[in-house]
Amino acid sequence: MKIMVVGGGGREHAIIKKLKESPKTEKIYALPGNGGISKDAECVNIGAKDIEAITKFAVDNKIDFAVVAPDDPLVMGAVDSLHKEGIKCFGPEAKAAIIEGSKVFSKNLMKKYNIPTAEYEVFSNPDDALSYLKEASYPTVIKADGLALGKGVIICPDYKTAEEAINSIMNDKIFGDSGNNIVIEEFLTGPEVSVLCFTDGKTIVPMVSSMDHKRALDNDEGLNTGGMGTIAPNPCYTEEVAKECMEKIFIPTINAMNKENRTFKGCLYFGLMLTDKGPKVIEYNCRFGDPETQVVLPLLKSDLLEIMLAVEEERLSEINVEFSKGAACCVVMASNGYPQKYDTGFEVIEEELDDNAFIYHAGTKMQDGKIVTSGGRVLGVCATADNLENAIKDAYKAVGKVHFQNSYTRTDIGKKALNILNNK
Ligand code: AMP
Ligand code: GLY
Repeated sequence: MKIMVVGGGGREHAIIKKLKESPKTEKIYALPGNGGISKDAECVNIGAKDIEAITKFAVDNKIDFAVVAPDDPLVMGAVDSLHKEGIKCFGPEAKAAIIEGSKVFSKNLMKKYNIPTAEYEVFSNPDDALSYLKEASYPTVIKADGLALGKGVIICPDYKTAEEAINSIMNDKIFGDSGNNIVIEEFLTGPEVSVLCFTDGKTIVPMVSSMDHKRALDNDEGLNTGGMGTIAPNPCYTEEVAKECMEKIFIPTINAMNKENRTFKGCLYFGLMLTDKGPKVIEYNCRFGDPETQVVLPLLKSDLLEIMLAVEEERLSEINVEFSKGAACCVVMASNGYPQKYDTGFEVIEEELDDNAFIYHAGTKMQDGKIVTSGGRVLGVCATADNLENAIKDAYKAVGKVHFQNSYTRTDIGKKALNILNNK
């Protein structure tokens, strides 16, 4: 089959490498891909948000199957556009991608269908929000309704920071129209777990659980980032918790979307917090997580293309989805200064790695035959092993064999998870 993957980060690199393992795969195009992806797929210089050009490329090149990975094109209707041309896709149509595209939608959905989440109020007028915030208890959480590059959530310790957040989101419009409406919600505490699920709208199959590390610096300090590293499986996600999530969250969510006439097909990502009152949904994403995918897919034993085709053809219940019993760790090598200002254009040198270690490229490009840095998060350096401790050790060993100027990594990816495992 001729496959097209829309996107160009570490997540897409992990998807492409897995799709390449399928005997059905003949050729993969990446739109736009990146420097590292160009070794595994043919990169085409079309941006992930250029839906018209993506659709035209798919038609002109007789693409058999399209995987739309990032949130923006999904929310903007890339899958709808490809479906109109008769092209099979993995990913939700816009009417279902709204589960990530609008926090007001997802909060109202959870309230209507009794899916556990933080208490909340919705505001479209800054003055109403401010008078509510004068009486609120702190810390409190303010969320822009729409997509905001993962930066639309502000945790406010007091009224002053909340007032600043309202001004920047609703008056200064730092997230554009995404800030026309906001959600103010209860601050929850507890360990966080990411669970990515395959679903065709009838059956839902959770993948191995994972843990992201969102802050820029060790010990969860510094600014929020797109994710500085991940581990899988997440030791907090016991069989008991998994069962409770399936009954109270996963199945109710796909049923709710069906009832709303918004059947979700693709990868549904549950961002969960395990509170002392049980698991609650922090966020839904309509796609694979980044960098969660970089630790989840290496543990997938089954054929990813077969699973994706089954999702599109609504026969997921017939497919065996199997994960290996081991563990995986991904350490992000970033450009020093990320998530703020950083320099790019430095050559990336990779020494030979051990067999269980591998690298997914996120922010690199090919320049004069060399791979150079081109983004904030540059590489996801990963390893799989029989247990978490070895996966972490081997991922960091691999980090020592990859070099570029101004590189920055956290040194404690997986440390919290290991402590939890050792104290069990
Ligand atoms: P999100 O962009 O929705 O993933 O939120 C970013 C991060 O903010 C989450 O991973 C949580 O750590 C935190 N967060 C979001 N909502 C809440 C909440 N209601 N209570 C506590 N922390 C939250
Ligand atoms: N790693 C979080 C996300 O993909 O949204």
